[in-house]
Amino acid sequence: MHKRKIIIKSSKQNYSIELLNISKSNFKANIDTNDILLVDKKVFQRHKLSKFLSNKNIIKINASEKSKSFENLNSIINQIIKKNFNKNNKLIIIGGGITQDIGSFIASILFRGIDWIFYPTSFLSQCDSCIGGKTSINFYSRKNQIGNFHPPKKIFIDVNFLNTLSKKEINSGIGEMAHYFLVSGKEDVAYFKLRYQKAMQLNLKACEQLIFKSLNIKKRFIEKDEFDKKERLLLNYGHTYGHAIESITNFKIPHGIAVAHGMNMANFISHKLGLLKYEKFEMVKEILDPICKDYLPKNININHLIKALKKDKKNINSNIRSILAKDIGHMIVREIVVNDNFKKILYEFKRKYFRL
Ligand SMILES: NC(=O)c1ccc[n+]([C@@H]2O[C@H](COP(=O)([O-])OP(=O)(O)OC[C@H]3O[C@@H](n4cnc5c(N)ncnc54)[C@H](O)[C@@H]3O)[C@@H](O)[C@H]2O)c1
Repeated sequence: MHKRKIIIKSSKQNYSIELLNISKSNFKANIDTNDILLVDKKVFQRHKLSKFLSNKNIIKINASEKSKSFENLNSIINQIIKKNFNKNNKLIIIGGGITQDIGSFIASILFRGIDWIFYPTSFLSQCDSCIGGKTSINFYSRKNQIGNFHPPKKIFIDVNFLNTLSKKEINSGIGEMAHYFLVSGKEDVAYFKLRYQKAMQLNLKACEQLIFKSLNIKKRFIEKDEFDKKERLLLNYGHTYGHAIESITNFKIPHGIAVAHGMNMANFISHKLGLLKYEKFEMVKEILDPICKDYLPKNININHLIKALKKDKKNINSNIRSILAKDIGHMIVREIVVNDNFKKILYEFKRKYFRL
């Protein structure tokens, strides 16, 4: 596969993403002796990374939402400091979005900020989270409540890492990716439709094409609105409802699959509020079904869902800030008042589409 490169412009520092086959020489060229590596434990084992990484400073991360906590941070920072790490050394992060969120948050606060390089290994981290500079940890069951912006210096993507992902994690990545194409417009949705089922079968060429395209769509939004104040808010399409589903199912539904359900929910609400034609809701649902229909949230309690929706950090007062759809590629920001009509819509959605 030939090399593809993207540069992201950021007010903090511009940074690059290269899509390539990561070889031993890439690690050698980018990792210095005193750098510290935070590596997803599973990736370390499945890709036999001990053969490629000669560096002694390796901290293995157990990637779970519970690990994105203050307690875990404390223990990792303690290990880093004990290794005589200083401000001129870098953190090298190898793993998915969770390892990234933990590592990048540490990189942003340690010694008032150190450099980090990222080798994303999950679908979701390759097509989405690796760019944008957001760092986050959870606060008890509240997701991504604490964080800041601290982009990496460089990102290297190798789609061969995807070979060891479970079916559920592949679908999660494709679910997250889908929202970029749907927000972007009809032409990009057609591009996605031609390739996403192949990517779900791990056709690496299709994976690479979709990853490259979705990163370029995200680039458009984050370069216009780096700090999530205007245009970038539209990228929360599916996320308000997705985060609430993740939270009330105790994270049993992985992020990107929850986002796919969340997009269906947002579209259904949009239709019920007179914004979106029913055919458009159905059309998008047909695209999303192969990604999420085998992973339905079991028996959700609508009152719990509303409680979780109300905790979203982007809300305004007690209203729910939602990204709704008027069409494919035409999303709007709406404040939703939680009233009987809204509850009725959620109950109807559950009855029709979360039936097991
Ligand atoms: N910072 C951001 O901008 C941003 C954006 C989107 C999502 N996120 C966060 O990312 C997280 C989800 O990301 P994720 O799905 O990558 O989670 P993850 O890091 O937990 O990876 C998912 C699972 O796949 C495993 N894994 C990773 N790479 C693998 C590989 N190559 N082979 C086998 N197993 C592998 C992990 O060990 C884990 O079990 C969430 O916490 C979400 O909030 C952050």
